[in-house]
Amino acid sequence: MSGESVREKILALVQELNEHNYRYYVLAQPIISDYEFDMKLKELEKWEKAYPQYVFKDSPTQRVGGSITKNFPTVRHRYPMLSLSNTYSIAEIRDFHRRIQKLLPGESIEYVTELKYDGVSISLIYRKGILEQAITRGDGVKGDDITANVRTIRSIPLRLQGDYPEEVEVRGEILMPKPGFQRFNRERIENGLEAFANPRNATAGSLKLQDSSLVAKRPLDAYFYFVLSGQIHFKTHYESLQKAKEWGFKVSDYIAICKDIQCIENFINEWDKARHQLDFDIDGIVIKVNRIEQQKRLGFTAKSPRWAVAYKFKAEQKFTQLLSIDYQVGRTGAITPVANLAPVHLAGTIVKRASIHNADFIEKLDIRVGDWVAVEKGGEIIPKIVGVDKTRRTGESTPTRFIQNCPACDTPLQRIEGEAAYYCPNEKACPPQIKGRLEHFISRNAMNIMSLGEGKIEVLFDHGLVNTPSDFYHLKASDLLGLEKEIIQEDGSVKIMRFREKTVDNILQGIADSRQVPFPRVLYALGIRYVGKTVAQILAREFHTMDNIRKAGYERLTAVNEIGEKITGSIIRWFEDPDNEKLLEELRLAGLQFSMKETTDKESSGRLAGLKILATGKLKNFTREGIKETIFAHGGTPVSSVSSKTDFIIAGEKPGGTKIKKANDLNIKIITEEDFLNMIAEGN
Ligand code: IVH
Repeated sequence: MSGESVREKILALVQELNEHNYRYYVLAQPIISDYEFDMKLKELEKWEKAYPQYVFKDSPTQRVGGSITKNFPTVRHRYPMLSLSNTYSIAEIRDFHRRIQKLLPGESIEYVTELKYDGVSISLIYRKGILEQAITRGDGVKGDDITANVRTIRSIPLRLQGDYPEEVEVRGEILMPKPGFQRFNRERIENGLEAFANPRNATAGSLKLQDSSLVAKRPLDAYFYFVLSGQIHFKTHYESLQKAKEWGFKVSDYIAICKDIQCIENFINEWDKARHQLDFDIDGIVIKVNRIEQQKRLGFTAKSPRWAVAYKFKAEQKFTQLLSIDYQVGRTGAITPVANLAPVHLAGTIVKRASIHNADFIEKLDIRVGDWVAVEKGGEIIPKIVGVDKTRRTGESTPTRFIQNCPACDTPLQRIEGEAAYYCPNEKACPPQIKGRLEHFISRNAMNIMSLGEGKIEVLFDHGLVNTPSDFYHLKASDLLGLEKEIIQEDGSVKIMRFREKTVDNILQGIADSRQVPFPRVLYALGIRYVGKTVAQILAREFHTMDNIRKAGYERLTAVNEIGEKITGSIIRWFEDPDNEKLLEELRLAGLQFSMKETTDKESSGRLAGLKILATGKLKNFTREGIKETIFAHGGTPVSSVSSKTDFIIAGEKPGGTKIKKANDLNIKIITEEDFLNMIAEGN
């Protein structure tokens, strides 16, 4: 066959398979059997293998993934990804309507009501109809480029159909439908892995995987609700959604056009009841002004459009009996009480455990074992106890006496003045505290050795292989191969998790790779009390090396704007401890990064080098974390209080009054968010 006819052949197969794929995953109306589909796919694979020059970007074979992304590149959104302001009552929806009427006097307003998908938001960029880039929300300004992973989601078109503009950005939500989620979690448990708490977490976890071929196996789906393009002008939002549907996106049919509040209210009430019948999670309803031209005139507030609002469903509540209270010990020794409950159906899952905050909460509500307690799940991971029905108390119960000794090591507990939690002071020898520190060390934002996640630390610790972080760097394959752990499953049966060759390779590779983790994260990984991610960044930036921090002393540490006495005290105590001294020496020998590297990252423009910057008030384009990271990324240092050393202040909406006054007193320059964006913008 000639090259040209092979190309034609492959193109035809790609097109045919994409069509079937669309019918199956988007329309749920397949016209051929799975078997026939697989045969055709195999044929395409065969041709592509023989003619790799004709492997097209939109080929369905590209959906099986295979590429590995170690670190997802951070990219700037062309248009910030905004959030919506939340409402919780019809009264608030009426306020929303009134505000709009006031801004558009005398005009008739039409709304579109949609489901609020509870997943992970995504922005897709198509050029010439081909999916080019998929970016997560991130901090709203910059997100992660997870294109390789998103390509594997079968219901997302790799190539658009119909008449589409040259460039278009389509936004929506990636989610894991409930049946797939349950299947997936069951498999995880069977394989000795930890189950995900809800479909949203499972989705987020899946999208972060480095190996896209694993993502391809996760039952992900996606719905779309927003179209952005400079080249196409819709009259209404509804019209844009219908267009998106024509292009091949999954757009929900559960959309209404409402001309009055009653209609919106009906839609809300209907879905508040019917939501559990959907095969995916929603956490509310979104109400949007339909006419684009009106949307434009309404514009945006601090961080959300004025033309849209979310109505969040109330957290579901149920009463059930409190069977017993467990006490868990965290990394810092803090004791958390956890309720064991008589199983109860709540928002689609069976709840058996719930958080009870702390000793004060138990005392204030007088919660006793045997009580009927109200449990709530606010779409959140861990359900919590929110009340007690004392009328159902039988009279035999006694007030709960919070434990006095550590449940793990029996050391008498202590309470720090002004803090709600009880602590186990035996930090050196209390097993859950040791394990907690090891877990922290390997965690994503620290050394990021995720191959040691999901209960593996526990196995290593129980076998006496690791006790302190430096032990990781002495592990050998022979230490790990064949290790086992029994996992007790829901039904009481026992499953064995075994460290096989592949697992062991991954673990050792992960540990080896962690030697390249930059210094600020190494510092954070040490788990020094009060040294969180930001403080670690500041210390690293200020002092450059581990040694400098160790030797800095009280004066120099407190002289750093962000570092107060509490943090300083904790740092000094940590470095003085001989065990930590030993740990540091071992980590140094293991080859971890103990000093700042000159960055070559082009994001790090150095435009803010040496500047101490404070942001106050609500910003349009940044979250609280996002602004700090942006300042860091450009070489500046974010600070949280005003002093003569502060270089300037970014004032958002409703800035802190005392901060502004102090800035004025000290003659510190106050700039707007726009000024700031200009400062860091390329070319300026
Ligand atoms: S519209 C400019 N519509 O909710 C407006 N968002 O709290 C962009 N979401 O970040 C958002 N379902 O991740 C819109 N039907 C829907 C939605 C929806 C879920 C998410 C989205 C957004 C967040 C806002």
